[in-house]
Amino acid sequence: RQIQLDATRVDKDGHKHFMAKEIAEQPVAIDRTLHAYLSETDDITLPDELDFTKIDRVTMVACGTGHYACLVGKYWFEQIAKMPVEVDVASEFRYREPPVSDRTLALFASQSGETADTLAALRYMSGKADQIVGLVNVSESSIARESDVILPLYAGPEISVASTKAFTCQLTILLIMALKAAQQRGIPLPEGMPSDLRAIPGLIHQSLMLEEQITASSRGLATARDIIFLGRGQLYPLALEGALKLKELSYIHAEGYASGELKHGPIALIEDTVPVIVLAPRDALFEKTISNMQEVMARGGRVVLITDAEGARIAGEGTSEVITMPQVPNALAPILYAIPAQLVAYHTAIAKGTDVDQPRNLAKSVTVE
Ligand code: G6P
Repeated sequence: RQIQLDATRVDKDGHKHFMAKEIAEQPVAIDRTLHAYLSETDDITLPDELDFTKIDRVTMVACGTGHYACLVGKYWFEQIAKMPVEVDVASEFRYREPPVSDRTLALFASQSGETADTLAALRYMSGKADQIVGLVNVSESSIARESDVILPLYAGPEISVASTKAFTCQLTILLIMALKAAQQRGIPLPEGMPSDLRAIPGLIHQSLMLEEQITASSRGLATARDIIFLGRGQLYPLALEGALKLKELSYIHAEGYASGELKHGPIALIEDTVPVIVLAPRDALFEKTISNMQEVMARGGRVVLITDAEGARIAGEGTSEVITMPQVPNALAPILYAIPAQLVAYHTAIAKGTDVDQPRNLAKSVTVE
């Protein structure tokens, strides 16, 4: 099941940047991930050593984009498998000296498998937690070597500094893990699961068709000084990820906020020069997110709403722009809504003329503290 990755043999494949190539590759990458962890008859084929009946909590630790993948994983594990989950950034976790029960599964998500803080956090957990699980793209890495169970992402080599396909592959595996945990613990799976996972590559392909529209709207965003991303529930970490991508690539100050928290501070920033990007799939929190969005509009905010066709019909009026996504099963929304977030960051950076694949001051893999 191991796929050998050789970065020296990778080229841009006709794309202008590695990032564009890696965004476009996501349907194929996720198909590979699904092939590894889902049988032809839709049985989950995670390694047998993963036994969610002998643990009672999950601790997830990562840096950067991997941290946001883990935050989505928390929503899935809690809602689908009814398991408590703690998520932390590795640089905080490693020095906090958190007490660890031996009924903990410790998960470390890292594209490179070499991030120094994540590796140090893994070493802290080693011997304390029941099991160390490494969610890595590079199978020949330090984090892979020091994990009890390795779950390769199968994303293929990721060259661009900003992580894209590794993120959506991490999300896919975290969702599969949450489903497996629910099965093992006798909790009924959400309707349509796990077979609905098969829809991800096709739905991503459809979302990629929005590129032309997003290119046009990104030209408008490129002149902003600050941009706010709002999301709620499982889309809150996507708001954080959208803001991270945008600031990394375009150097525009961007913040992700839980939309319900808007009234406790960031609403003071709202004026017509601050675009607000609202991630609002039609899930159980849709109406709440929309009412938060209306609070922004009532104060003269310029809203870009990302939702599906029915969401656009219900809530599109008065927004400055609607990006219409395909309709998606609830649990899949964070994976799908990563696509417009990536495209907005990419095209805003292009409009600003920044170095997309190698943004200033950043490194693909941070092997020092
Ligand atoms: C760097 C990269 C980010 C990445 C983070 C964690 O900061 O620029 O894109 O998310 O490291 O990297 P890892 O390889 O551990 O996922």
